[in-house]
Amino acid sequence: MKRVFSGIKPTGHLTLGNYLGALRQWAEVDQHRADALFCVVDLHALTVEHDPARVRRLSRQAATLLLAAGLDPRLCTVFVQSHVDEHARLSYLLECVATDGEMRRMIQYKEKAARERERGGSVRLSLLTYPVLMAADILAYATDEVPVGDDQAQHVELARDLAVRFNQRYGHTFVVPKATLPPVAARVMNLQEPASKMGKSDDFGPGIVYLLDEPDVVRKKVMRAVTDSGQEVVYDRAGRPGVANLLEILAACTGGEPEALSAGYASYGELKKDTADAVVEALRPLRARHQELCADPGYVERVLREGAEKARAMARPVVDGAYRAIGLLPPLEEPAAEPMAAAGAPTGPGAVASLNAAR
Ligand code: TYM
Repeated sequence: MKRVFSGIKPTGHLTLGNYLGALRQWAEVDQHRADALFCVVDLHALTVEHDPARVRRLSRQAATLLLAAGLDPRLCTVFVQSHVDEHARLSYLLECVATDGEMRRMIQYKEKAARERERGGSVRLSLLTYPVLMAADILAYATDEVPVGDDQAQHVELARDLAVRFNQRYGHTFVVPKATLPPVAARVMNLQEPASKMGKSDDFGPGIVYLLDEPDVVRKKVMRAVTDSGQEVVYDRAGRPGVANLLEILAACTGGEPEALSAGYASYGELKKDTADAVVEALRPLRARHQELCADPGYVERVLREGAEKARAMARPVVDGAYRAIGLLPPLEEPAAEPMAAAGAPTGPGAVASLNAAR
């Protein structure tokens, strides 16, 4: 059975982009076809300025939403990254395999670092090394496939490169993973700024549909989406990005093809109305289940505790193997007490002190 791993970062409230680009695929497809792990990657939320209480709150909320979206702990493993030490342990080894040039070429680093600098802030070193931690997340579980939205494809490519390089230098240690993207809506765009991805925490708030938005808020946001000049509804991502985005969202929610759907619309208004309805319907069960889960926080905690235990047991041997392969000494075992006693060596409390004194 294939091993699948993916993660979500608790840096903001989860969006329709997260749902259509990742979560829905995890719940409807991946957990049924693979040995799958899904992780709230909280360490990644520390790469930009953060408020500790908010990260804690968003981590719990993200975990609850993963379950509300349909992840079933009987089918897959759901856990929080910082509960499993192996991620950070492996990340350092991979930093010794990656190059700084490689890190500086990452598109997300360039964009986010530029934004931080524009705001007059400093850029955390962890923002630069973030893709290495992400590679560790993936490689620690001998992952075959990583279901992600389009914006994470470059990071998964880096994880592949690091796995291949490590294996070539130090002997076969890691499975080489590959990214899998959803068939539509791999990059949902901001409804107010269709040239930008719909991110959790960007500057175009009214263009972001959050999973927990009330239905009338969702409707308003979709109805106010920026469309393009022109009248006809055609699917043209480059020339008509606003309309193409709506068609992709509609297709992802209803199961059609964006191009075929475009033929059924004579006006932008009709398209917006149907898209708004489709999004509200797609999110309805998730919102209901989220409410139920919020009433039972003990259940979510139990899932996360058991998930972390299972994840630890899977990652430990892989990461230990990497430590040996790269040249680190295995931890030294305590010498057995019996043979020393048989040889007349001192035992019991104070034995070490008396051994040292004898030297
Ligand atoms: P994050 O938290 O930004 O996003 C989580 C998932 O949602 C997808 N996604 C989108 N898909 C389509 N349209 C959008 N507008 C959109 N916005 C987000 C992302 O592609 C992602 O699949 N670095 C990762 C988290 C991570 C991870 C990992 C993922 C850390 N370690 C290991 C996979 C494997 C991130 O920031 O995702």
